[in-house]
Amino acid sequence: MALLKTNKVIYCLGNISPSLGVLSTRNSSWWGEVQMGPPDPILGVSEAFKRDTNPKKMNLGVGAYRDDKGKPFVLSCVRKAEAIITTKQMDKEYLGIGGLAEFSKSCAQLAFGADNEVLNRSITVQTISGTGSLRVGANFLARFHGGPRDVYLPKPSWGNHTPIFRDGGMQLKAYRYYDPSSCGFDFKGALDDISKIPEHSVIMLHACAHNPTGVDPKPEEWKEISDIVKKRNLLVFFDMAYQGFASGDIDRDAWAVRYFIEQGHNILLSQSFAKNMGLYGERVGGFTVVCNDTEEAKRVESQLKILIRPIYSNPPMNGARIAATILNTPDLRSLWLEEVHGMANRIIKMREQLAAGLKNEGSSHNWQHVIDQIGMFCFTGLKPEQVERLTKEFSVYMTKDGRISMAGVTSGNVGYLAHGIHAVTK
Ligand code: LMR
Repeated sequence: MALLKTNKVIYCLGNISPSLGVLSTRNSSWWGEVQMGPPDPILGVSEAFKRDTNPKKMNLGVGAYRDDKGKPFVLSCVRKAEAIITTKQMDKEYLGIGGLAEFSKSCAQLAFGADNEVLNRSITVQTISGTGSLRVGANFLARFHGGPRDVYLPKPSWGNHTPIFRDGGMQLKAYRYYDPSSCGFDFKGALDDISKIPEHSVIMLHACAHNPTGVDPKPEEWKEISDIVKKRNLLVFFDMAYQGFASGDIDRDAWAVRYFIEQGHNILLSQSFAKNMGLYGERVGGFTVVCNDTEEAKRVESQLKILIRPIYSNPPMNGARIAATILNTPDLRSLWLEEVHGMANRIIKMREQLAAGLKNEGSSHNWQHVIDQIGMFCFTGLKPEQVERLTKEFSVYMTKDGRISMAGVTSGNVGYLAHGIHAVTK
């Protein structure tokens, strides 16, 4: 530590050439030891896509909704909410550390239902979309969860879950979830694994539209999962990034979360409005801790504020104002529900057209899972070398695990995609 006391000494340290082991006065840098990192497995796909000049190129990497012309889609309810906000000429003061109270309240009501008693004994803070919410959650767990530091993720899980929890101070473990032989849910494997998780550990569950597989448990299966989680006394962390986006119905998609609450689980919940309101770049989300009573919720709230303040101080206001305006203005809320339904339906249609297109191409494989999976993603079952060929030969960009964002498939390109998939799988 003494070495760090003067600039001069630091300068000398920076000039030790690691390869030669001698002092040099040239080509030195504070960051000479920093290794080149790999591109992000999801967002890096978009960077590669942008560099491609093929007019037929398709970006099925990142989960971002496109209209049937392949264009980014801003919901009409969002445009209308923005117009209302503009006419109000609101100030740009800091929000509180926990964000816009009106937003947080509506966010929790959307998840639990407007009259759920749990609203009186939970705390919801506005966060920087789903990622920010999960990260605040990870930090909160690392600081306050008395149990093991282990978070059990479904295998596979969203690619960002691992770094979020790892960087947040938790350790990652996994339970079986996806069955490659059926391209469906490995119910038995999941129950077996969950029944062996050490008591008081944290288990991550995707509330609906599991990312990346598009495979969700059925209600009967959720019930058994809830029972076993209770028996093991596990702390449930639900990630709900797609409410409304899976089935087109916000209540149906929140079923598992509400069922767990009913069964007495005091869950943690992450919500995002990126997909269901198309507010990707606005970064709107919520983090909720369900507590035993109001007093406990107040104590938790005070600690969440202490935790958030040194990270980003307080969240941005624009997106939260938009979401709160939509949720609390009856006309806009109805319009939103119609639009979410429309987006979900377009995706369902594309699933059917893709499966039909593969059949028309003469594929002998069973593509039923393309139709059966739900939400934004289809876990095609393509192997990494087939993914690589699809990208190289057809300029179809997707993540290496074979996930495609169905939201990027349109009536105009679904035939081309079917042709490409058939070519690399026959
Ligand atoms: C995805 O999985 O593609 C989305 O959730 C976007 C992201 O940030 O990874």
